[in-house]
Amino acid sequence: MTETNTNHLSWDEWDELHNPPPAVTDFDRVVERAVSRRGFLGGILAMGSAAAAMGTLGNLMSSTSAQAQEAASRFAFKPIPIATDNTVHVPEGYSWKPLAKWGQPLFSNVPDIDPMKGVSVENSDKVFGENTDGMELFVIGDAQVIAVNHEYVNNETNLPHAPEGMPQSLDDVKILQNMQGVTVMEVAEGANGWEIVVDSPFNRRIHHNTPMKLSGPAAGSDLVKTAADPAGVDCLGTFNNCGAGKTPWGTYLTCEENFNGYFGTTTADFQMPDDYKRYGIVAETRYGYEKFDERFDVAKNPNEPRRAGYVVEIDPSDASSTPIKRTALGRIKHENAAVVIARDGRVVVYMGDDERGEFLYKYVSNSIYVPGGDTSKLLDEGTLYVAKFSDEGTGEWLALTPETTGMKPDEIAVFTRQAASKVGATTMDRPEWVATNPVAIEAYCALTNNSNRAVLKDGKMRTNAGGDVLELNAANPRAGNEYGQIVRWYPENDDHADGKFKWDLFVMAGNPAVHKDAYAGSSNINEGNMFNSPDGMMFDSTGLLWIQTDGEDTNEGDFAGQGNNQMLAGDPVTGRIERFLTAPKGAEVTGQTWSADKRTHFVGIQHPSAPFPDGEGKLPRSTIVAIKKDDNSMIG
Ligand code: FEO
Ligand code: CA
Ligand code: CA
Ligand code: CA
Repeated sequence: MTETNTNHLSWDEWDELHNPPPAVTDFDRVVERAVSRRGFLGGILAMGSAAAAMGTLGNLMSSTSAQAQEAASRFAFKPIPIATDNTVHVPEGYSWKPLAKWGQPLFSNVPDIDPMKGVSVENSDKVFGENTDGMELFVIGDAQVIAVNHEYVNNETNLPHAPEGMPQSLDDVKILQNMQGVTVMEVAEGANGWEIVVDSPFNRRIHHNTPMKLSGPAAGSDLVKTAADPAGVDCLGTFNNCGAGKTPWGTYLTCEENFNGYFGTTTADFQMPDDYKRYGIVAETRYGYEKFDERFDVAKNPNEPRRAGYVVEIDPSDASSTPIKRTALGRIKHENAAVVIARDGRVVVYMGDDERGEFLYKYVSNSIYVPGGDTSKLLDEGTLYVAKFSDEGTGEWLALTPETTGMKPDEIAVFTRQAASKVGATTMDRPEWVATNPVAIEAYCALTNNSNRAVLKDGKMRTNAGGDVLELNAANPRAGNEYGQIVRWYPENDDHADGKFKWDLFVMAGNPAVHKDAYAGSSNINEGNMFNSPDGMMFDSTGLLWIQTDGEDTNEGDFAGQGNNQMLAGDPVTGRIERFLTAPKGAEVTGQTWSADKRTHFVGIQHPSAPFPDGEGKLPRSTIVAIKKDDNSMIG
């Protein structure tokens, strides 16, 4: 791996390379911090005196064989071993088939592509995009419509004629811009299984140049006005679309994550505005848009990056609708948006900010959701909160308001990280997806890993880009955290709009074959189900938690025995976790949804390095696979 050829890296790996942790871990410090595995868990349990905070780990430690048998019955599949090969594996009695792969036409006037030659600029906005990620399925009349994110590109695959996949022209830039964003597509199950309904009136590509509106506190602010948009309300494109969400009123929420990576400059002496640092906006970019498309040159358009980093609402039922950037939900590196309705009908949206030492957020609308009523302001008018976890197993949501932050509403919407630092939020180990349980009042967040946690640099403990020190805390309890954990919270009064909660750790990932201390993981991790770096996460309708990983797949050293990335099912009641799927080499598993009849589970396979799914001699293609049980019974 060299600095000059980084196209094979995921965004997270690229970020790591440009902001690396120390090469040598302070091993003595790690040992000093890490208590024995059993002792560690005992400590966590002791923190939560309330019954709810005891949670899974307590249940596990007291489980009887009868309970264990009952637990086993909740899993309808026989768990599978790890894999290190180039394809997808699912349990006995299940099978999978590709539904959509990068470059596949959505319209009949586009020819089937030869991936070795790439896609022409004319056709690049009419095909299934790159790097499939978060997705949701909508039932619209008789149709089933999937909205799915395309997070970033694999330059060398997408621009096969260009050296190292770096754009050589504005057309090359446009191809990359068109490969990303969102696909909306109708799907249907026929004799050949699930397929895209080519030419469906629902089919649509949304990309880096699609017209959209800014709404909420940042709309019309001086912070987001540009020469091309002096009113600060009409912007172009959605960027680095990672996780997703779905509203009860039938819209799709796409989440802009590492938006910073598209904005740079070739002006060597340009003085970067102060607020850029917190979001990692730097002169050199991975794509070189700024060399050919001056909208992305921050020396010419310094407000342009402040128009990205939002949750964007899309109406999948109308291919001509204008997507809306909901700035009231804050500007962060949004992972996903988990929507749930509070006891009184207000709309609650949980959101993670995926960067080492950034925060976990919650939005609560002012008004209540009324089915069939006006929903246009529910994501514009409300309060944004950030989480503070205490070491005693309790926590609170801190409001981000002019009173608490000393910032104006538009500043809170645009400089959300800075606002959250002012109120003393808890630094987290990279909050990825949040999932809310449909059969219990609780929510889960995957904290994927954090190489900077409690690690020293130049004799001082590392911080996030805002200077918040990454000391250990009970929700993020391991130094140099390479495996990750899933934190769970129970809102007070069984109300997601409540300002307080109790919490515990559903699981700490780890490797019990290599470690005997806290790095072995929690007691629901064993050599048969271990994994690292939980990331994508959704509940099915029965209340099983489906956990997807995006981590180290070297199968060596600290990761020996963990194989390729994978998807596992977790039982919130017992804490039991079992492996359901293994991915091809190099891929992460991310994004999932179910068919209307719950007989198909759609799962995203992103950035394989193996020649998946077309086989040896072919280019790797990010792909949604459709998984079914051979007896066609319900699986979600
Ligand atoms: Fe796009 Fe944090 O994953
Ligand atoms: Ca992710
Ligand atoms: Ca990740
Ligand atoms: Ca990723």
